[in-house]
Amino acid sequence: MGDRAMPAGTEAGTEAGTEAGTDVVRISETATDTVAATVRERARAALETARARTLALTDCLDDAELTAQHSPLMSPLVWDLAHIGNQEEIWLVREAGGRPALRPDLDPIYDAFQHPRAERLALPLLAPDPARSFVAEVREQALDVLATAPVSGSALFDGGFVFGMLAQHEQQHDETMLATHQLRQGAPVLHAPAPPAPADGTAPAGLPAEVLVPAGPFTMGTSTDPWALDNERPAHTVDLPAYWLDSAPVTNAAYTEFIDDGGYTQPRWWSTDGWKHRQHADLEAPLFWHRDGGSWLRRRFGRTEPVPPHEPVLHVSWYEADAYARWSGRRLPTEAEWEKAARHDPSTGRSLRHPWGEEDPGPRHANLGQRHLQPAEAGSYPDGAAPCGARQLLGDVWEWTATDFTGYPGFTAFPYREYSEVFFGGDYKVLRGGSFGTDPVACRSTFRNWDYPIRRQIFAGFRTACDPEDV
Ligand code: AVJ
Ligand code: FE
Repeated sequence: MGDRAMPAGTEAGTEAGTEAGTDVVRISETATDTVAATVRERARAALETARARTLALTDCLDDAELTAQHSPLMSPLVWDLAHIGNQEEIWLVREAGGRPALRPDLDPIYDAFQHPRAERLALPLLAPDPARSFVAEVREQALDVLATAPVSGSALFDGGFVFGMLAQHEQQHDETMLATHQLRQGAPVLHAPAPPAPADGTAPAGLPAEVLVPAGPFTMGTSTDPWALDNERPAHTVDLPAYWLDSAPVTNAAYTEFIDDGGYTQPRWWSTDGWKHRQHADLEAPLFWHRDGGSWLRRRFGRTEPVPPHEPVLHVSWYEADAYARWSGRRLPTEAEWEKAARHDPSTGRSLRHPWGEEDPGPRHANLGQRHLQPAEAGSYPDGAAPCGARQLLGDVWEWTATDFTGYPGFTAFPYREYSEVFFGGDYKVLRGGSFGTDPVACRSTFRNWDYPIRRQIFAGFRTACDPEDV
């Protein structure tokens, strides 16, 4: 799939570090074998990490809960489980392995485009135990395919792409299942320690409220990251004027000021569509908040607690984020502004894979991977800061941007149109950065997520921006 990338030249060498690995291949046959083994091992580990999480999210509930419709917005959990197996069968067993189909009869049942989430319960779904057996059988074959799969020579296999794609697919459904857990009623079944408080003693109080990103070009997207999905490609240069960006996501305390100031009752802060939706849906606070006398409580994974003031606000729609930004005299950042802040390194002119550099995300960098069941306080993770000084660009909360989801210049759908391309065109807003519920394999400075502007069951918050003349 050589047509996935733009004609070379513009971007080669502008993304720092991401070509390590491709450069060392072809030294000798032994070195090539070693690289292949490393790629396969990384793919195997990513698939196993995803599976452990999938099982943890489903084994903690009984069959009645796994086959219940916890919300019309979500699939029954047992649908996600078997859909994960069906996609893995299609891509790893049939496509990558060239092996015969195991359960082709399941294809129409687990095709997300044939049935809206609210209607999936009515399908002849596999029951929980048969679904568990199915995903295990598929996995056994997929790992067998992986053991001898090529890791170069075609776009599907280059760098272990198709295996990485399926690990990311499973992790994305795991985050969706986590959102279903958040919507479900009943006693808590998920447990995790609270995230660490801001470590360097300066945050959040000593952290400047915003950072200035100077004008100039940067490399957006990637053509070299081996597991980057089609919508992150190709790398291209974007020139931006200077802008200010919040150092950290907007907090519950700040958002409460907007509520207390009548933010939800004054149409002047809302877009036309946003106000219509606010009226229709009768919004008055983030999802999962309710009033208790003079203060706010929120329900989280089955527990009710006071809204923590210093945490990033969570479960707001794009329309609410946009209204808050206007009320505060600011605006949402564009997607390009978000990405430049997250990866442009002015000392080299290059784009980094993560705000802190090339190192894989660890517990000191970002709140990812469902290690915690909530965002960390705004201003946490100084070790994860970007060159511009902004923090928590990855992890904690997905961040709404001002931008509609479309393809980059030179976009080519790969390996299937239904991953990204069918969502282009203006109905969806881009979210960036990942949440506490996003696994590192599906999180990097180029990763793009998208949803309808009314949605708020996803783990989304936001930060704001403004132009220099507005300060
Ligand atoms: C990228 C999170 C919007 O969940 O609809 C899962 C990911 N694509 N299966 C979604 C996805 C196919 C997708 N999002
Ligand atoms: Fe899917």
